[in-house]
Amino acid sequence: MVDMTTANLSASTLFSLDEDARAALFTAARSAVAFDDREVDPEIVVRAWDLAKFGPTSNNTQPLRVVVARSEAARAAVIDAAMPFNKPRLAQAPLILVAAHDDRFHDHHEIWAPGAPELGARFEANPEMRASLAHSGAMLALGYLVIALRAEGLALRPYGGFDKAALDASLMPEGWRSEVILGVGYPTAGDDQSGDRRGRIPAEIGIREL
Ligand SMILES: Cc1cc2nc3c(=O)[nH]c(=O)nc-3n(C[C@H](O)[C@H](O)[C@H](O)COP(=O)(O)O)c2cc1C
Repeated sequence: MVDMTTANLSASTLFSLDEDARAALFTAARSAVAFDDREVDPEIVVRAWDLAKFGPTSNNTQPLRVVVARSEAARAAVIDAAMPFNKPRLAQAPLILVAAHDDRFHDHHEIWAPGAPELGARFEANPEMRASLAHSGAMLALGYLVIALRAEGLALRPYGGFDKAALDASLMPEGWRSEVILGVGYPTAGDDQSGDRRGRIPAEIGIREL
């Protein structure tokens, strides 16, 4: 049987992105405040979604949802809910997204667990477990989305400093609970608002081989 996950990859590309790709996704990518003037076509968010959706989630449940705050009213609702320090920063982003979790992600069990409706029923019966998994799963998937947006050539800054209850009430679809705002745009050489890159935990602290 052909292994579809590796069939199109040569041995040399399997685990080795080149240095430019590593820089674009990780080492040179910053949490941007200022952006190029170019508009961001929301279609590119769909493209990023179509990459990020392949990341692993707990039992394939996929609780991440994304609001594209495209209209002026939606943008204003997001900026209104932001902490004062974040408002002028967010206002500079050509496109604002709100990453959220879906409290009723289990309603889509036919997609994430075809033929196993009991999995959906288990989450229906246990709202606490559901809320915990929805939050942690969405945050994990948000990490994939950040990398995917960068892979599409975009820059972004995540924002946790906002009134979630207020934003949920003013903008979010029924059952979607906001997690993190993303200010998104094309990178600019003139972003002097991100400051110097601060320290990163080195592997000697972050990894223990036991
Ligand atoms: C969950 C989360 C919440 C954040 N909240 C804010 C925020 O409220 N305001 C802000 O300016 N930056 C915020 N940031 C951006 C971080 O400060 C930034 O990613 C970090 O300092 C690393 O910066 P760098 O990517 O430029 O190295 C947040 C980032 C994350 C992941």
